[in-house]
Amino acid sequence: ALAGGPHRPAYHFAPPTNWLNDPNGLIQFDGTYHLFYQHNPAEPVWGDIHWGHARSEDLLHWTDEPIALEPDSPNVDADGCFSGCAVDDDGVPTLVYTGIDDDRARQCLAIGDETFRRWEKPSVNPVVETPPPGVDRFDFRDPFVWREGDGWSMVVGAATESDSRVLLYRSSDLREWEYRGAVFVDDRPDVMWECPALVALGGRGRGRGGDQGRSQSRSWNQNRDQYLMLGSLLPTRAVRYYVGSYADERFEPRREGILDAGDFYAPQPFVDESGRIVLVGWVEEARAEPAQRAAGWSGLMALPRELSLDEDGRLRTAPVDEVRRLRELEYELPAVGPEDGTVFVDQPRSETIELVATVSETDTGTEPSTASLSVLRSPDGLEETVVRVDPDRGTVTVDRSRSSDDPAVETHEQTAHFEPTADPVTVRCFVDRSVVEVYADERACLTSRVYPTRADSTGIAISTDGASVDDGTVWELASVWDDFAPSPA
Ligand code: FRU
Repeated sequence: ALAGGPHRPAYHFAPPTNWLNDPNGLIQFDGTYHLFYQHNPAEPVWGDIHWGHARSEDLLHWTDEPIALEPDSPNVDADGCFSGCAVDDDGVPTLVYTGIDDDRARQCLAIGDETFRRWEKPSVNPVVETPPPGVDRFDFRDPFVWREGDGWSMVVGAATESDSRVLLYRSSDLREWEYRGAVFVDDRPDVMWECPALVALGGRGRGRGGDQGRSQSRSWNQNRDQYLMLGSLLPTRAVRYYVGSYADERFEPRREGILDAGDFYAPQPFVDESGRIVLVGWVEEARAEPAQRAAGWSGLMALPRELSLDEDGRLRTAPVDEVRRLRELEYELPAVGPEDGTVFVDQPRSETIELVATVSETDTGTEPSTASLSVLRSPDGLEETVVRVDPDRGTVTVDRSRSSDDPAVETHEQTAHFEPTADPVTVRCFVDRSVVEVYADERACLTSRVYPTRADSTGIAISTDGASVDDGTVWELASVWDDFAPSPA
């Protein structure tokens, strides 16, 4: 049975019970997608970190699988199996992760078979025992590995006393690694670069043909100018991305930004068998620990997103196309002009919807000019979550100040930025009980947690303040879980 309560999402991945944090080991293998995740199987709070596992044919419907990794090896990983990745080693599924014991981090392997259910930790573990000089022995974690040339490359996140850095290693067999230096150094006062990833962009469609290993190496040999570097930074918890060049074992950024300024952390990208770059990220809780314990589960994954570059070299982020298959009943939304004030939408009433609307600036000269979509709204309007778009300033904001009557949840406003535009901005807003995930034209996205307390907080309203909203569409979305009836909290 799924642990539940009214805030358990219906179409976002959440652990069957207990704790989830980072996505790990994302891979498509023989057509099937695998998602591993940082998991405490005993309690809905962080601790005793295992690797949970689920599989899917479509990135939407997930089947729970047995736990893949347990922290059981003294001097290697007895205090936790921290984040890492999965690779296809010529047909052998292989996990690369960080073992924690005695406050030390070491990079380790686990070798699987085609069932993805038996994972053996080889006696060569750990494969990287100590960090390079100057790097903290605990802040040395989260390996991300890919095929490059005739061998393997790996980046590991690290912190020194003065900077955070991404360390590069090379290997011919995944077992013996050579340290090649820092591929990238960030000297802002963040202390730790968690979950680094480096991936070639712009490879869409190039790898079609089904072989993961080959499609990955093909996309790796593309344009050296178009790489994406990701990092989740402590203690600010900013999820940064950089677009730049990767050559001679160094990454040079050209552009940077925040991937998702909401309750979003530790995303991991992977190249699937069609050559897409798919990103999955952890969506944290914004409610207090007693509420997580009462619900019996904690944490979920954002919708899988496809990353690409546009003609101007800007990063685009959109939910994977498969997400459209969730659409069920469709309703039209009215157009709302700048003088129309607030328009209440009477259908649908649902806490699992996708809403698409286009917001245009009007030439009134008033500042600011915004349009707002209110979701999870009670009929009296006392509870509501407001998504406010300002095309002229290039912002989308989730205003949670009235999202919940529960005083113990976080309700500060969250804002994502994109380049301001005179053109209309199309907003896709996914609402899933306690998740509001907003995309502005694929140029910005923002994922926020909200915890409405009322059963009738299921309405929609649209209002304008100087901008206008063209007619839009809203769909009720299907649940991805069989017999979806989470237990009451
Ligand atoms: C990121 C992180 C990683 C670490 C894991 C532990 O959220 O702190 O750096 O490997 O979580 O669960």
